[in-house]
Amino acid sequence: MNAILGIDVGASGIKGALVDVDNGKLHGERFRVPTPHPSTPDAMAAAFAEIVEFFNYKGPIGCGFPAIVKHGVAQSAANIDAGWIGTNIEEVFGKSSGCPVFVTNDADAAGVAEMRYGVGKGENGLVLLITIGTGLGSCLFYKGMMIPNTELGHVLWKNGKSAEAHASSGARERMKISRKDWADRFSEYLVHLERLFSPDLFILGGGESKFFEQYKTQLHTQARVIPAKLLNNAGIIGAAAYAAEQ
Ligand code: BGC
Repeated sequence: MNAILGIDVGASGIKGALVDVDNGKLHGERFRVPTPHPSTPDAMAAAFAEIVEFFNYKGPIGCGFPAIVKHGVAQSAANIDAGWIGTNIEEVFGKSSGCPVFVTNDADAAGVAEMRYGVGKGENGLVLLITIGTGLGSCLFYKGMMIPNTELGHVLWKNGKSAEAHASSGARERMKISRKDWADRFSEYLVHLERLFSPDLFILGGGESKFFEQYKTQLHTQARVIPAKLLNNAGIIGAAAYAAEQ
């Protein structure tokens, strides 16, 4: 078995598990620590190292991170401390864990996992995966090829803010609206993305995908919409797969 530690860094929790990258299955249990607040590079580096220690792991680590990531460097920080912008994530986590760390955007990691091992397997057209959590993440595929850092959670919305400020689960919680009311907003967002990209398929991931049955009839796109199969583990699995490729 080819087991690699995958770590999904989120705005509310940092989760890790050993992943068999031959089949995308978790090997053993998952370990989660809450994301420190403020989520500065130093505080996050310590939380990251705690996960690596829990698994007593030595080897390459794959990491999904909630920001634009170019050559290991964070270029944005929508839901994490602004101190990350311009910081080399691979160096910071590599130093605190003592292992080589390979970092990619969290939604891109989730997309890779779903396309390789989950519901996207065999889908060859234009596929848009949206992760719904504190923020909105996106991952775009065409004929199996991924375009990284699409950041479609930040398309400008009516109020001049990012769409994620209006249609993420973070927004739903902040505004204290029901899931039903939220789903109408989210549908509007998907229809907007459909106008821009004409996807063949939308895959919905992140924490909110667990509740898909509750709101699926409220989503009014032409394209098919399906929930991710790997649910909240997609980020971990895709991160491990990303490290395996480096
Ligand atoms: C970030 C993205 C991230 C998404 C989901 C957004 O606010 O800008 O990089 O993929 O949240 O975590």
